[in-house]
Amino acid sequence: MTVHFIGAGPGAADLLTLRGRDIIASCPVCLFAGSLVPEEILGHCPEGARIVNTASMDLDQIMAEIEAAHQTGQDVARLHSGDLSVWSAMGEQIRRLKAMGIPVSVTPGVPSFAAAAASLGTELTLPGLAQSVVLTRTPGRASSMPEGETLENFARTGATLAIHLSIGNLDTVIADLTPAYGADCPVAVVYRASWPDERIIRATLDTLKDALDNSISRTALIMVGPALAGEGFDESCLYSKDYDRRYRPQSADSPWSSWSHGDD
Ligand SMILES: C[S@@+](CC[C@H](N)C(=O)[O-])C[C@H]1O[C@@H](n2cnc3c(N)ncnc32)[C@H](O)[C@@H]1O
Repeated sequence: MTVHFIGAGPGAADLLTLRGRDIIASCPVCLFAGSLVPEEILGHCPEGARIVNTASMDLDQIMAEIEAAHQTGQDVARLHSGDLSVWSAMGEQIRRLKAMGIPVSVTPGVPSFAAAAASLGTELTLPGLAQSVVLTRTPGRASSMPEGETLENFARTGATLAIHLSIGNLDTVIADLTPAYGADCPVAVVYRASWPDERIIRATLDTLKDALDNSISRTALIMVGPALAGEGFDESCLYSKDYDRRYRPQSADSPWSSWSHGDD
């Protein structure tokens, strides 16, 4: 018996990996984390599967569900939205399962920041503008931030920020970022990326507050940084005509000219 953690993706039911789909189809028990996992994905569960929404359950209750499946040797598909590596609460569940001697597997999913970037049609690492993406959040009622992980600090790097769980902290976000990025820094808010009711709001740090109305109060990403402009960047060396590289040596003297795939 194994508990299979599966990233269910950002919302669109077809943004689920084939591996995730197949594991769901093989598990007689499915625990899914609330409204961010689309119902269509639950359609991959086998007929008669026990399907439990864990949104209103605490960790002990979730573990009790898993323990019951363990007793009868039934595999469990454990679905969380997006990818499991960020804000999934997978860590605390795996810690408990390890202590109980229950095996786990982890199947990644499409994270919401990638879905938002796709909806924007934007590369977040544009040469000359930004070469790093920071996945972060602001403190919430139930979660403080480690010292040093402040928006002011991240803003000083000039990186592209994908700010999660923070649409309710807009005033703080704008106030903390404006000194380093400047009031005219481009911003995009993507609400429910990849869902049918997705919305995109483009603005600057200065105009963001007026551009948003109260209808967006959750499930939104705030993307900030010069790369969001999608212009004013350099071309990468990768496809440059003169760039000497492994797959396109420019001369017989090139260190890459004698390279073969077997060398890698
Ligand atoms: C608990 S976190 C889950 C993050 C998830 N594990 C991931 O990989 O993106 C929930 C937050 O992620 C962001 N989020 C999740 N799904 C989203 C979507 N489809 N569109 C925009 N933001 C989303 C929002 O900031 C939301 O408040």
